Amino acid sequence: MHIGLFDSGVGGLTVLKELKKYLPQAQYSYLGDTARLPYGNKAPETLKKYTAENIHFLEQLGVDSVVIACHSASSVSLTITQTHRGTPVYNVITPSCQQALHESKSQKIGVIATKATTKSAVYKSYINDLEPNAQVFSQACPLLVPLVEEGMIQDEITNLVLNRYLKPLINHGIDSLILACTHYPILEQPIAQICGPQIKLINPATSVAKNIIVSDDYDQSQQRIQIYLTDHAPHFIEHAKSLLGPGIDFEILYPTS
Ligand code: DGL
Repeated sequence: MHIGLFDSGVGGLTVLKELKKYLPQAQYSYLGDTARLPYGNKAPETLKKYTAENIHFLEQLGVDSVVIACHSASSVSLTITQTHRGTPVYNVITPSCQQALHESKSQKIGVIATKATTKSAVYKSYINDLEPNAQVFSQACPLLVPLVEEGMIQDEITNLVLNRYLKPLINHGIDSLILACTHYPILEQPIAQICGPQIKLINPATSVAKNIIVSDDYDQSQQRIQIYLTDHAPHFIEHAKSLLGPGIDFEILYPTS
């Protein structure tokens, strides 16, 4: 079983990490589209084009399924991407809406995301399809992706920015918060410190991993993860090492076309 994932940068590795926990024997190829990062402030048409190109790239590698490990790309591509020429394509949005409703008692759910995801209103619409009485409060957090890509995780500037973004949601009385950008689980600790124990943080990557249809066709010789980057990204290797942990072997490759 060979799973392909893509994101604009390092964020999708949070999804890869969860997948690896559930499906440790699968082969993984990851595309970090660092040349075109950030995705979160791009127009829907641009993101649809990037999504189609990235799926095509992963299909050329022979993957059996694709995970769009990016909420911004998922938010504009839900209708075109359930299967792509026979390859199952999973998004990171739909499974986490069910998880959030399951976790929330007050039915007041916060969503932090990029501008593209917030503008699409996809979370509100999916959650309200499932539970019309739920209240969804969304906050775009455009400064968080650059802070994460720069490795500023435990940092006073990041804390100030997080406080600015999270306080309005906390004031609305939310009891669960969806980390609706794959970069944000990297900030889980500082976010939890600001939100406190009464707000449950939802990492959509966990729900995605549980929803993948598994085949038992494993190639044991391919356990090293291939990470393709579309441009030089100074902190990527460091991030990948600390996110994936010492037991996970990977190599960085630069596609030529
Ligand atoms: N990690 C991506 C997401 O989940 C996008 C980050 C970005 O490039 O803006 O939305």
